[in-house]
Amino acid sequence: MRTFLAICGSLRRSSSNKSLLEAAALLAPDGVTISLYEGMGELPAFNPDIADDAQPASVTDFRAALGRADAVIISTPEYVHSLPGSLKNALDWLVGTSDLVDKPVTLFNASPRSTYAVAALNEILTVMSGRVVDDASITLQLSGRDLDAAGIVAEPPFSAEIRRGIATLLKAVEA
Ligand SMILES: Cc1cc2nc3c(=O)[nH]c(=O)nc-3n(C[C@H](O)[C@H](O)[C@H](O)COP(=O)(O)O)c2cc1C
Repeated sequence: MRTFLAICGSLRRSSSNKSLLEAAALLAPDGVTISLYEGMGELPAFNPDIADDAQPASVTDFRAALGRADAVIISTPEYVHSLPGSLKNALDWLVGTSDLVDKPVTLFNASPRSTYAVAALNEILTVMSGRVVDDASITLQLSGRDLDAAGIVAEPPFSAEIRRGIATLLKAVEA
């Protein structure tokens, strides 16, 4: 069994990026479990002093979830031509760890307009030595559609593209 950790960059209750990741979980093939990381809003603001002294439980949980994952899928909105501060903060907690080193990571994108956020994330993940799997990255036009996960799955072009992204990521994991 392979486990993919899905990280959503939006904390919004009806986030399109979250729905995309939930749709991916529904579409995961046999042998793959996609679990959504739900703790991003609980992570404290990154402070290297705290990281050195006593690691907060929320950070330990995040790092454990990453440790269990064979691969990571990130889906995030773009905020002010970059990634949301909460997602950058989560990634900052991994600096100085080897949690992302050589870990296959891909980006799912719910809005074709989010080019700055995608570029920024690719740069960050590369600097952190993640194995960015470009071929598995997908971009769907979901913003403004107000679809939940079941609604995304019900649209064949969307579900086909999500399945393709997952299958490509799985191949990278097993390569
Ligand atoms: C504070 C803020 C800043 C934003 N800045 C951008 C931006 O720079 N470029 C862009 O394409 N969209 C921007 N947006 C729009 C969001 O990226 C878009 O609504 C996205 O689909 C929301 O994702 P979600 O449904 O997962 O929360 C911004 C939205 C907010 C709330």
